Amino acid sequence: MTGVAEATAQSVAEAARLLRDGQLVAFPTETVYGLGGDATNESAVAAIFEAKGRPEFNPLISHVLDSDEAKRFVQWNETADKLAARFWPGPLTLVLPRSAGSPISLLATAGLDTVAIRAPSHPVAQALIRAAGLPIAAPSANRSGAISPTRAEHVAESLGERVPLILDGGPCLVGVESTVLDLTGATPTLLRPGGATREAIEAVIGPIAVSDALPSGDSARKSPGQLESHYAPARPVRLGATSVGADEGLLAFGANVPQGAMLTYNLSPSGDLAEAAANLFAQMRLLDRPGIGRIAVMPIPETGLGLAINDRLRRAAAGDGKDRGR
Ligand code: TXA
Ligand code: MG
Repeated sequence: MTGVAEATAQSVAEAARLLRDGQLVAFPTETVYGLGGDATNESAVAAIFEAKGRPEFNPLISHVLDSDEAKRFVQWNETADKLAARFWPGPLTLVLPRSAGSPISLLATAGLDTVAIRAPSHPVAQALIRAAGLPIAAPSANRSGAISPTRAEHVAESLGERVPLILDGGPCLVGVESTVLDLTGATPTLLRPGGATREAIEAVIGPIAVSDALPSGDSARKSPGQLESHYAPARPVRLGATSVGADEGLLAFGANVPQGAMLTYNLSPSGDLAEAAANLFAQMRLLDRPGIGRIAVMPIPETGLGLAINDRLRRAAAGDGKDRGR
């Protein structure tokens, strides 16, 4: 079996066989599609980096069914317990110390003594983990630096022949990647905003810290060139747009949409951030096309899922927009 296959009991069983055989499979999660390989197999993990064209070895998230399984791979703690009870399965990744004898590949963790781990809620992801009987290492299933895939056809466009099998489980309902939270220090630290909101996390464990490396509003605007170019369309991206030029494609939000763009998509006409997150990457792709000179994006509130949306948009706007589809 090659190419895109609708996720059925049969295609999931085939995907599990490929994973156990050390091969790669793209599969849906509730956040974005992942490019999966056996997290305990160094050469499968190396193949993930190769297929993505990742310039250096960023550590990968290992996907498991639940906290019982996670405890085989990481040193679990009380904070992790509280968070897993509230957010798992779901879009929260926990960074914890590697357990003694953890079989997770050293390449998957980029040689760190910590492991990023999460239990996805998508039924196809769960069925695949269960059928394979393995933790699955999976970054987003796109070429490095490009827009993350939220539909099987996005994966096919970006990675196509590099993946033997792409399981199609429909559009991703969350639409932005998981929140990455580091639990290895004295204070839990947000490394990447994502599908689990900071507010919801703090409601469970109290105040958390935010990594200095994150692009926050002001510093991001002052030095966009310093941001890692990521989630990048081929066209330049202009943020905070309250008016548009005739050569621009507009990514709108809410009801007060400026007129005059060449093409407009609205992330959420009603101003709903969950709907906007689910539409973000697919609409960015639709606007990233010939004839459009630049992608203009209306302001998005910096609360709840707006943190993750604005983080991805700032990274998309970093750099010069020229030929960055890698
Ligand atoms: O929603 C998601 O998280 C998707 C789906 C497929 O699960 N996966 C994903 O993976 O976005 P990726 O590789 O694109 O992002 C993994 C993030 C990176 O920011 C990486 O630096 C961080 O997790 N990470 C992984 N392991 C880490 C570790 N040991 N310590 C700190 N950060 C880590
Ligand atoms: Mg990614």
